[in-house]
Amino acid sequence: MTPTLAVTEEATNVRTNEAANVEANVEANVEVNVEANVEADGNANVKANVEANVKANVTTNDVTTVKANDAASTRNRLEVGAERAFGWLLGSSGAKKQWPPYELIEDTIETTARAKLDKLERLYHKGQDLAWDGREVLNALVEKHGRPRIPEDKKESALILLGLLMWGELAAWAISADLAERIDDVEAKMAATSQAHDEARHFYVLRDYVRLLGEPLPRLGGVGRKLLIDVLETDSLVHKLIGMQLMVESNALAIFRSLVNAELEPVLTDLLAYYERDEARHVALGVLYLPRLLSKLSRFEAARAQAFQLRCVGLLISGGLPLRPHLVRLGIDPRKMAERVVKLQGEVFDQMRATAKEEESGWLRGVLNPAAGAGPNLLDFVHPVGGIEAAPPVHRAILRAWARGARFADRALA
Ligand SMILES: [Fe+2]
Ligand SMILES: [Fe+2]
Repeated sequence: MTPTLAVTEEATNVRTNEAANVEANVEANVEVNVEANVEADGNANVKANVEANVKANVTTNDVTTVKANDAASTRNRLEVGAERAFGWLLGSSGAKKQWPPYELIEDTIETTARAKLDKLERLYHKGQDLAWDGREVLNALVEKHGRPRIPEDKKESALILLGLLMWGELAAWAISADLAERIDDVEAKMAATSQAHDEARHFYVLRDYVRLLGEPLPRLGGVGRKLLIDVLETDSLVHKLIGMQLMVESNALAIFRSLVNAELEPVLTDLLAYYERDEARHVALGVLYLPRLLSKLSRFEAARAQAFQLRCVGLLISGGLPLRPHLVRLGIDPRKMAERVVKLQGEVFDQMRATAKEEESGWLRGVLNPAAGAGPNLLDFVHPVGGIEAAPPVHRAILRAWARGARFADRALA
């Protein structure tokens, strides 16, 4: 914009803003002109233009304000007169003007925000009420079902999955402890602290369970390891919450449910029911807190958050492909498990959208809904209906190449 254009724009601003109040106009025009002039010629004329514009607005609006004040004082005199007349009529001085207290039933923005904080704080108290003693529960289950033993033909596959879960719990512990330290909202901090307490219990109970099996755990696959390290090491609180609460927790929940349904071993089946209950609560931290952070993102930051989520999806799928034969051996249908993950993520997304609407922070930005758009197509591609063998030859070839690449990466990055 040239300086001449900037001056013309100032004149237009002065005319159109006559009806508005002085303070607002001065502030608005100072902002517009500083921006316009700085853009136009760096530092020349900025001061002169701003001063001229402020003066013009003040003068014009002084006249308007005087007129408005006259009208207001006439109105006030009429109101006072009417109040005195009705005070005499009703025998009251009008001292109870504040009754009834309408604010008691009104849902102000503040009330809604308070309710949200209460829900976050409740996560902590709920966590405390529902906390279970890991040693007690495991001992009682061993007493009930006997020392755990996994059938020989399923042992290798079960240990691979248990290793993934156990290291996943350790990562979840570190990630939630980091969230508890970095989140600056007290209620959300409390919820993250409660989650860290749960994750610590999940880790040590699984470790003790594996010790009871008396078998060494295989190393964690390199792709899964890369995913957990990415979420652990990201500096962004938004990326951490998307990675942990939306992506990792939903996958963990789907694996727990699949293992419970597979009834692999009774101690494990009963134990994982306790895990499921805690994990469902952990997802709520993301649902209640993440929309607030997302609403503050710039377009660039929102695009970066989506890119991070897509990378998590890519790593989760790549890490899951080599697991497919193991899942089948354990009696778990990989497609059904993936469907459960996408369904859970879709529910979390919908709840986050409801939170965003309630808080009037608007549409959710920076996060993609895995259950909408290209999500279901991706699910059909990775887990074709009727199995891989029923897919067209090119589709099969791509999936096999992807699985080969993922196996290679699993070994190389382990
Ligand atoms: Fe956990
Ligand atoms: Fe969790």
